[in-house]
Amino acid sequence: MVGEGEKQWSGDARILNMAKIFVTRKIPGDHIKNLASGNEVVVSEFDRPLTQEELLLKSKGVDALLCLLTDRISGDLMDAIGPQLKVVSNYAVGFDNIDIKAATDRGIVVVNTPSDEVNEAVAEHTWAFIMALARRVVEADEFIRQEGYFTGKGGYKGWQPDLFLGPSIIGKTLGIVGLGEIGGMVARRAKGYNMTVLYNKHEPDPEAEKDLGVVFAGLDELLAKSDFVTLHVPLTDETRGMMNKDTIAKMKQRSYLVNTARGPIVVEADLIESLKSGRLSGAALDVFETEPNISADLLALPNVIMTPHIASATYEARDKMGQLAVSGIINTLSGQKPENIVNIDVWEKRRK
Ligand code: GLV
Ligand code: GLV
Repeated sequence: MVGEGEKQWSGDARILNMAKIFVTRKIPGDHIKNLASGNEVVVSEFDRPLTQEELLLKSKGVDALLCLLTDRISGDLMDAIGPQLKVVSNYAVGFDNIDIKAATDRGIVVVNTPSDEVNEAVAEHTWAFIMALARRVVEADEFIRQEGYFTGKGGYKGWQPDLFLGPSIIGKTLGIVGLGEIGGMVARRAKGYNMTVLYNKHEPDPEAEKDLGVVFAGLDELLAKSDFVTLHVPLTDETRGMMNKDTIAKMKQRSYLVNTARGPIVVEADLIESLKSGRLSGAALDVFETEPNISADLLALPNVIMTPHIASATYEARDKMGQLAVSGIINTLSGQKPENIVNIDVWEKRRK
């Protein structure tokens, strides 16, 4: 039920004609107030993802929906919201949570929030992972804390020649699967480590090769040669389960896998096997196959670093995401072409 208390910022009428907008969760910053100018905006009262039922109940009858990657936006939901729905604005770069075809068929514009701020943040997190994996930062930190280091009873007895050895990064080979904006930003940072950077993409990208000094490789070759493999493809039918028993078996002995893209790109059970057997030295995951549930096997592995889907969690990125998610709605509703349209074909044929 949409109670009176949940209505926020139904401010002065201006650009738009009292459009109804539902925001599925509170977002950082004060961007929503720009949305509220002249519109009727409701922000979810819950600081958690909504159930499908709640989502439907709250968004029925809206002209625009500002949603998160944790919301599943299906064709059925779009129909239930109603024919007045004009724009779905995803507060994320990835949009695998939205049925894009269903939106396109219905003339609904889908916008998202890619930007340098977000992409750089993900590239930074990817590098935090690469360095933490190689130098075993998380394991070493745990070792220091365990069993009461501060009481002198911990495992750390002073400098030790063989304590937490790991590979050097400099001069090694980095394999980037998916050389889009984020993959390119990861590659740029690899220059500082004088790495050989291989990339895989549908087609070779001569411009990127010139800009970034990266070398195209087929997936098998990339996996076989890379000391660190990092995934930067979107989640699609094609990439779902792309890293599985067969492909992981092609990875270089004692190499590392980093995933800051989407969990289901990796078959986790197969990754776990390769980490248990020692074939892979480690993995760092910001995303999980059945997020937010983490398998007990993963939790038990010391050579896995996990973060809770925070690769884009910089102040700068969140600010930009809020700005873009809001301007995507305002622009669509006022007939101006938004910066980031996922289903560009729909723009001319959109619902008005
Ligand atoms: C985060 O995962 C995003 O897609 O923005
Ligand atoms: C290590 O601390 C060294 O001085 O080599």
